[in-house]
Amino acid sequence: MGDRALLVGRGVTRYFGGVAAVTDVDFEVREGEVLGLIGPNGAGKTTLMNLISGLIPLSKGEMVFDGRRLNGLGPWDVARLGIARTFQIVKPFAGMTLRENVALGAMFAREGRGVPARQALEVAAEVLETVGLGDRMNAHANELTIALRKRLELARALALKPRLLLLDEVMAGLNLKEIERLIELIRTINASGVTIVVIEHVMKAIMAISHRIVVLHYGRKIAEGTPEEVARDERVITAYLGRRFGQGKGA
Ligand SMILES: Nc1ncnc2c1ncn2[C@@H]1O[C@H](COP(=O)(O)OP(=O)(O)OP(=O)(O)O)[C@@H](O)[C@H]1O
Ligand SMILES: [Mg+2]
Repeated sequence: MGDRALLVGRGVTRYFGGVAAVTDVDFEVREGEVLGLIGPNGAGKTTLMNLISGLIPLSKGEMVFDGRRLNGLGPWDVARLGIARTFQIVKPFAGMTLRENVALGAMFAREGRGVPARQALEVAAEVLETVGLGDRMNAHANELTIALRKRLELARALALKPRLLLLDEVMAGLNLKEIERLIELIRTINASGVTIVVIEHVMKAIMAISHRIVVLHYGRKIAEGTPEEVARDERVITAYLGRRFGQGKGA
């Protein structure tokens, strides 16, 4: 992992009507790292991810990915540049098999990495294997439990062959064992060279996988640093973590 910034945001701001969901946030995502994004409900985490992935436009500020300005680009263009994401609320194509769902991702992969339909099905099979869904690739998406849908969502994003992967609460609703397996999987994906931004409320998980953490509160960045630095930051403890975690006694 180097210090080179893959994604840089400056003065990133988004209003919804009169409500400032994200205000004047400066951040960088370094090439090869796992960056955790934490903060209370409504802090602006998903909104920031929506801005990065081009789902909604910035009200103010700018973002640059690998030297290219993201302002004005839609989700399609952003995906083509190599930024893939999962959604907090998972919505697979219910009538399609897992393999078909993921193959769609492979067909529309990053610039120069997209493949024709038949080959996309091969890529889909490989990616489903990676996330542990290989034995179910012909099942339909609506037959899956929450935990498996989250894995499908991850597979769909991975099929895009991203350089930057944005994960929004992929651990929500999972049990401890499922969380541990997902942590391993995220580490494997990161080790394969994919830079990752992860939003998560499961503190032990985010502390374990993140190289650095950015903390949002009411749309503003209130802290950033290593997991240890953030965990003992007074503002973070007051706004979000509470005393017990801040003193290292667990979540
Ligand atoms: N499409 C929208 N229209 C209007 N307001 C919105 C919209 N999306 C988000 N907001 C508001 O922006 C603020 C930030 O919301 P956001 O979903 O980014 O928070 P979050 O940090 O992801 O929270 P959570 O941990 O609950 O997922 C909230 O006040 C929310 O109500
Ligand atoms: Mg959210």
